[in-house]
Amino acid sequence: MHSGGEEFFVLEGEFGDEHHSYPAGTYVRNPIGTSHTPTVGEQGCLILVKLHQFAADDQAQIVIDTNRSKWSPGLVPGLTVLGLHEYEGEHVALVRWAPETVFNPHKHWGGEEVFVIEGVFHDEHGEYPAGSWIRSPHLSEHTPYTRSEGALIYVKVGHLSE
Ligand SMILES: [Fe+2]
Ligand SMILES: [Fe+2]
Repeated sequence: MHSGGEEFFVLEGEFGDEHHSYPAGTYVRNPIGTSHTPTVGEQGCLILVKLHQFAADDQAQIVIDTNRSKWSPGLVPGLTVLGLHEYEGEHVALVRWAPETVFNPHKHWGGEEVFVIEGVFHDEHGEYPAGSWIRSPHLSEHTPYTRSEGALIYVKVGHLSE
């Protein structure tokens, strides 16, 4: 039972339950009050999971296979974006960064969380290889970029209050 909601992204292998199977690259949201019985095959799996972080009235149940989704151009050349969810001020997306891409300097209204899925993500504060998690509070600022590796990131903005 998800008393506070559950959001996950399958990084490796295949996750499953009585409703679906979720191969690597699947994004799922199970809102407050839902329940399931997870199952995993012989190959196992690795998931990024966030619990107890749903707005009380965000009842969208979502399953997205990002391997089969249509991506859109981002705000600057070199970025492609796949929107995963929006609710009030919260936005969740995957963003693919081509090598040597530089984004605009910006401030995070409502904060930003990033999980680096592939490649290496950078900003003026550090270097973040695949597997890194970055949590930047309300009104933090940075100018992110990539070098020769490029990057694929999960990003959520607008959910961290003052
Ligand atoms: Fe669950
Ligand atoms: Fe940012």
